[in-house]
Amino acid sequence: MFTNAIVRTPGKNFNQGITTAKLEKPDYFTTLRQHEAYCKVIENCGLNITILPPDPDYPDCPFVEDTAVITKNFVIITRPGDKKRQGEEEKIEEVLRPFRKIEKIKSPGTVDGGDILQAYNHFFIGLSCRTNTEGAKQLGIIFSRYGYTFSTISVINMLHLKSGVSYLGKNILILHEDLCSSKEFKSFIKIPVLKKEGYAANSLMINNRLLLPEGFPDTRKKLKELGFPVYELEMSEFRKMDGGLSCLSLRF
Ligand code: GLY
Repeated sequence: MFTNAIVRTPGKNFNQGITTAKLEKPDYFTTLRQHEAYCKVIENCGLNITILPPDPDYPDCPFVEDTAVITKNFVIITRPGDKKRQGEEEKIEEVLRPFRKIEKIKSPGTVDGGDILQAYNHFFIGLSCRTNTEGAKQLGIIFSRYGYTFSTISVINMLHLKSGVSYLGKNILILHEDLCSSKEFKSFIKIPVLKKEGYAANSLMINNRLLLPEGFPDTRKKLKELGFPVYELEMSEFRKMDGGLSCLSLRF
């Protein structure tokens, strides 16, 4: 069970962040409204939420998940893979320091938290345009030191590993249909997400509630049929900036 969450309010220059999505620019007021709704749902899941103010130097700062990997015993403060985002992690380290022992990724390693997927005591590390082999090596050393196992997986055609796969607990993964045949995931029960609904593969299980982006009827139907308590959230403005549900918070 999670008891805490950290989020960061989007700043006025949110639309100047990094994106590969060929969509229109996000509307600031809609972005704020969607972010407030996200925070409310997190609070309704029973978490104490810390809402950090925006930092004008970092338009991508609402995507806090990329700045840290949090376990029961320790936190790894990352070194984000895009230079424009390096430095976002400093504020997050300050907030997390009272809660956990701090470990850090060091140069030339780079890691985005969006590439790190935990299932049981195992971490899947996505090797992507943001997480490099040196970053993965440093992560592996830290995970092993604390008794966790890890493996790496190449991230193709998506920004982060968790853009395409989420762990829902009870050995269940929801994942983009292209990832279903991956041998890394062969021991899991899989809920495939159709290519045309690929964005919904980034969903978020928080204390027995499943947050799902709005507008993906096939995925919603599959999850409801399986008995998941689904809460849909409007995510249109974050999608325009390559962000998903998990990107917007750190849960611990
Ligand atoms: N806009 C989120 C990212 O590129 O990291």
